[in-house]
Amino acid sequence: MEAGREAATIATARKRLHVITWGCQMNVYDSGRMADVLAPLGYAPAAVPEGADMVILNTCHIRDKAAEKVFSELGRLRRMKEATGGRMILAVAGCVAQAEGAEILARAPYVDIVLGPQTYHRLPEMVARASRAGNKVIETDFPAEDKFDHLPDAAAPQGITAFLTIQEGCDKFCSFCVVPYTRGAEQSRSAATVIAEARRLVAQGAVEISLLGQNVNAWHGTEGWGLGRLLRAMAEIPGLKRLRYTTSHPRDMDDDLIAAHRDLPTLMPFLHLPVQSGSDRILFAMNRKHTADEYRAVVRKLRDARPDLALSSDFIVGHPGETEQDFEATMQLVRDVTFPMAYSFKYSPRPGTPAAGAPIQVPEAEKDRRLQALQALLREQQAAFSASCVGLTMPVLFTGTGRHLGQIAGRSPYLQPVHVTGPAELIGTEQPVTITATHPNSLAGTVSQERRRA
Ligand code: SAH
Ligand code: SF4
Ligand code: F3S
Repeated sequence: MEAGREAATIATARKRLHVITWGCQMNVYDSGRMADVLAPLGYAPAAVPEGADMVILNTCHIRDKAAEKVFSELGRLRRMKEATGGRMILAVAGCVAQAEGAEILARAPYVDIVLGPQTYHRLPEMVARASRAGNKVIETDFPAEDKFDHLPDAAAPQGITAFLTIQEGCDKFCSFCVVPYTRGAEQSRSAATVIAEARRLVAQGAVEISLLGQNVNAWHGTEGWGLGRLLRAMAEIPGLKRLRYTTSHPRDMDDDLIAAHRDLPTLMPFLHLPVQSGSDRILFAMNRKHTADEYRAVVRKLRDARPDLALSSDFIVGHPGETEQDFEATMQLVRDVTFPMAYSFKYSPRPGTPAAGAPIQVPEAEKDRRLQALQALLREQQAAFSASCVGLTMPVLFTGTGRHLGQIAGRSPYLQPVHVTGPAELIGTEQPVTITATHPNSLAGTVSQERRRA
């Protein structure tokens, strides 16, 4: 009760909030929702942290030196807080907060609030508590209530392309990964709430929606739906032209979802499907629960359903026990499948995960060498894919102005940045664009009236 009264008092003043976001797209979504939760208290977005009334550092714990990076950023924010006479409320959120909350308050006592990814609907109450001089707030439990039931409907517009979290957490426990520990058990939102939020996003101007989840294709609505059915329902929303979903696990790619790729033109022909390794031995050690050939088979089914589908993936080199032969199997899988886009990482031991304690760790120099070889191959494939787009006409969703005067920029179905010379009125629309040239990280084209790529 008392906290509620204090929150109401705070709401009378205009305050400035700056959110720093690291990590995955789910953190990007969470940062937006944290701003939404604080808006009724009078907090409006600030472009820079200097002089802000509140700064939230939304952190990621996925790889090496995550905590060190947080403490070094906190050192910088501490000086800004001092410059406000200590008025600035400093909050640390996200996966490092979840994993190392107590350590953060011990090492950085100038931090006011530490909150995990599942508790941010309680932020107003935390701010009220922290506003009382000297109070520290730590909320890193996994609450019984679902935060999505407690978030405000009114959200700041995300723009032409929007994110929508439909699933959180992970029960898969891959040997190397902290996510099951930082985000908790797999949880799906109901189809009804997801569709309602999608309709709101479209009413606010979204033309493309990306459904998010740590294991988004493990989503199952309380209505007994799977992701394929949800995508079909979403494709019916008037005004919504593009759908994507990320990140998927190969084991949860069921037939109905694959069929959705065949049936829904709205569903973009680009899929992020992490494989991590091409070696069965290492896939087993990673607890991925599928073989390299099973992955190839899923890709084949997807391409049968949607022949113009392109794939991206995540790779880890140097997982404990990985031999040169295992690494070569990964290279072979990349040659077989081909990935126009990919993320590749050196294995990084994470405290508390099974792989971190494994007896045979791969030397750092060897990980470096393998990563370079893999990235050279992936760069080649990306360049070849871009080159293959020249001369094609593909739909581009324009999202803003380009770097040069008279230019507008957008994304191809494959998420490639595309720029053309054209009028600003086209921003927010999808247009057929004939690709004329490739640049290292983008494509150039001209708006055309030709038919789009099938
Ligand atoms: N849920 C997704 C990925 C989440 S993490 C999936 O199942 O694939 C994003 C990526 O970070 C992973 O795909 C993996 O490639 C990488 N990653 C996770 N833990 C890592 C670690 N300890 N070292 C190196 N890379 C890691
Ligand atoms: Fe991590 Fe594996 Fe879960 Fe992906 S599926 S979040 S890599 S444990
Ligand atoms: Fe990082 Fe947490 Fe996302 S560890 S990748 S912010 S789920």
